[in-house]
Amino acid sequence: MPDTIAITGATGFVGAAVARRLAAAGHGIQALVRPASVHRQPSDISARWVVGDLDNADSLQELVTGVVAVVHCAGAVRGATREQFNRVNADGLEHLLRAALNQPRNPRFLLISSLSAREPEISYYAASKRRGEALLTAESDRLAWTVYRPCAVYGPGDREIMPLFKWMAKGIAPVLGSGTGRFSLIFVEDLANAVADWLEHDRCPSEIYELHDGHPGGYTWQDVIDTFQHLRRKAVLRLKIPLMVVKLLAVVNLLAARTIGYAPMLTPGKVGELSHPDWVSDNTPLNRATGWSPRVSLPEGLKLTLGWNAF
Ligand SMILES: NC(=O)c1ccc[n+]([C@@H]2O[C@H](COP(=O)([O-])OP(=O)(O)OC[C@H]3O[C@@H](n4cnc5c(N)ncnc54)[C@H](OP(=O)(O)O)[C@@H]3O)[C@@H](O)[C@H]2O)c1
Repeated sequence: MPDTIAITGATGFVGAAVARRLAAAGHGIQALVRPASVHRQPSDISARWVVGDLDNADSLQELVTGVVAVVHCAGAVRGATREQFNRVNADGLEHLLRAALNQPRNPRFLLISSLSAREPEISYYAASKRRGEALLTAESDRLAWTVYRPCAVYGPGDREIMPLFKWMAKGIAPVLGSGTGRFSLIFVEDLANAVADWLEHDRCPSEIYELHDGHPGGYTWQDVIDTFQHLRRKAVLRLKIPLMVVKLLAVVNLLAARTIGYAPMLTPGKVGELSHPDWVSDNTPLNRATGWSPRVSLPEGLKLTLGWNAF
C-alpha cells in the first residue's frame, strides 16, 4: 500500500508542484485547503482535501492522521506587520507540529523554510521563517525533522519573479540599485524532486539544507540578463531603478497596506531582502544526505516557465 503524505500549501506555487510530484510518485496525498481557497485546488492533483487552516486544530489533526510524513509548504510570503508573518510562519507551524506530535507514531516532518532565514534581522518574513525553524528543530527528541531553505524559486505558476522575467523576455530588465549582489535560483520542479528524494531517504539527518539549480556561486542580474539575451538572440535593455526610489515606494505601500488592510509584497523588508549582496546557496550537504541533484538549468527553466514561444 502506498504511503500517505500530509501537505500544506498545495493551493500555492511551491506546494502544488510538490503535491503533483508526490502524487505522480504514487504517494497518497492529504492536502490542507483553506475554505476560501477551495476553488484554487489544482484539478490535476489527486488528493484528499481537508478543509481548514493552520489555526484550526481539528482540521490539522485530520490532515496528519495516518500519514508517514508531513511536508509543510504553507507560508505567508506577503504581510504588513511582524504579527501577520508570525501568525502563519511560526504559530501555524507550531499548531501543525502539535497535531503531528499527537499521532501514535510521529510522522517525519519537512519544513519548506527560506534562504532568508539565514538573515532573520533583514525582514519580518525572514525572522518569522527563522522562528518557525527554531520551533521545529527544538523537537529533535520527539520527531525526525528536516528543513529546506530554498533560494528564489521560479517556474510555471509563480507570481513573484514571473513579472520580472516577462519584462526581460520582452527586452527590458529593471534592475534594483547597483544589481551587483549574487543569488541562487531553483526551478520549482527541482525543488519538488528534492522533496520526493527526501521521502525516499528516511534516514536523512535532521539538518537545515540549502538548495540551488546546480550553478555554483549563483548569478548576478547581469548573468540573468545575458541568459535572456542568449535565448532571445537580441539585446535586453538594462534599466537601473534607484534603490532610494524603491525604498520610498515600499514605505508608501506599507502605510497604505496598514491603512486599507491588504497584504503587501513590496515593503521595506522586501527591499532589504532584494538588495542583500549574498543569497548564494550550497547544495553539497543535501546531495550527500539524499543523493538529490538539480536537473534544470536556468535557460531550460526559463523556456519551461515562459513557454518556448516567448523567445
Ligand atoms: N516562491 C519562492 O521563491 C520561495 C522561496 C523560498 C521559500 N519559499 C517558501 O515556500 C512556501 C510556499 O511559497 P509559495 O511561493 O508557494 O507561496 P504562495 O504561492 O503564496 O502559497 C502559499 C500557500 O500557503 C497557504 N497558506 C497561507 N496561509 C495559510 C494559513 N493560514 N493556513 C493554511 N494555508 C495557508 C496558501 O493558501 P491559500 O491558497 O489559501 O492562500 C498557499 O497554498 C512558503 O513557506 C515560502 O516561505 C518560497
